[in-house]
Amino acid sequence: AQTEKDQLYKIHEVANSYYQEVLWDSEEGKSIGLAYFRERELKDDIIKKFQLGYSPEKKNAFTAYAEEKGYTKEILEKSGLSIFPENTPSGIDRFRERVIFPIHSFSGRVLGFGARILKNNVKTAKYLNSPETEIYHKSNVLYGLNQSKQAISRKNVCLLVEGYMDVIALHMSGIENVVASSGTSLTTEQIKLIKRLTENVTILFDGDNAGIKASFRSIDMLLTEGMNIRVLLFPDGDDPDSFSRKHSQEYVEKFIENEAMDFIDFKAEILLKEVGNDPIKKAEAIRDIVKSVGFVQNALKREVYLKEVSNKFGLSEQSLFNELDVQKQITQ
Ligand code: GTP
Ligand code: MN
Ligand code: MN
Ligand code: MN
Ligand code: MN
Repeated sequence: AQTEKDQLYKIHEVANSYYQEVLWDSEEGKSIGLAYFRERELKDDIIKKFQLGYSPEKKNAFTAYAEEKGYTKEILEKSGLSIFPENTPSGIDRFRERVIFPIHSFSGRVLGFGARILKNNVKTAKYLNSPETEIYHKSNVLYGLNQSKQAISRKNVCLLVEGYMDVIALHMSGIENVVASSGTSLTTEQIKLIKRLTENVTILFDGDNAGIKASFRSIDMLLTEGMNIRVLLFPDGDDPDSFSRKHSQEYVEKFIENEAMDFIDFKAEILLKEVGNDPIKKAEAIRDIVKSVGFVQNALKREVYLKEVSNKFGLSEQSLFNELDVQKQITQ
């Protein structure tokens, strides 16, 4: 018998085909959805590779289509694809008038969708995602992993970006070893998925405050899982999507190679900007860096990193070791 999970996988497959059909074959899909992707300079083959789609404006377009195919209200509601408000006779689509990004599992099954509005608008969330369902747990999924897993293994490094469009744009420019955390804070489960393929991660986050914050959290999470990391922030205002469309593949690859730093240099650069000549602030910045060193799992690597901090700031290794011990006691 079909379990509820099987039914959820199936309806996501149906929805995925539906949104793509609407994009390529309907007047509305072509004139709005496809036009949007072309405006963002996506080539047809990349739109197909990522199975991008479009959800029409009509309130119940998908719901009616799925009901016609025999899907029940229960399963439509559980999938998160339809919403059945109280006191209304029929369901409405969660995703309307948006371009659609299917989210795949490691092995390529569709688990959910991200959906972007067409015009940036302060009133509506820019991206709407599937809710948590029996098959979609956002903390266990990395966008792009299915399309990128071979390149990640081959290159033995995983580029970590923030957004859907960053993954897609890098693929378009020939850089295929990339996944996105999709704006949420990186989780242990997500890191374990990467770890199946490589222990090396290069963080490529947006050059804005949100990007810096997210990179600090991700650094500590990745170190805790024993990963080797390098970090790069794009020039303010750029993200991997906008940057890779301005430059050639060779330039982007060289840029990442040359500009990515180890986490100590990265945190030092960011934190010391705010310090000026204030010795107390400087000490706080160093404590923050030592705290990250404390997450390094391997004792030898930890010592090498502490040496680096010691050289960088002209402090004795002993006092840094003491600081590390103090922090260990605080977190235990
Ligand atoms: P574009 O404007 O399409 O280039 O998106 P972006 O990926 O550059 O957006 P941004 O840097 O603002 O956000 C990075 C990622 O965070 C997105 O790809 C989404 O996964 C997620 N995100 C952004 N805005 C929202 C939102 O309003 N709601 C939710 N749930 N996620 C969002
Ligand atoms: Mn951003
Ligand atoms: Mn961005
Ligand atoms: Mn962007
Ligand atoms: Mn260094």
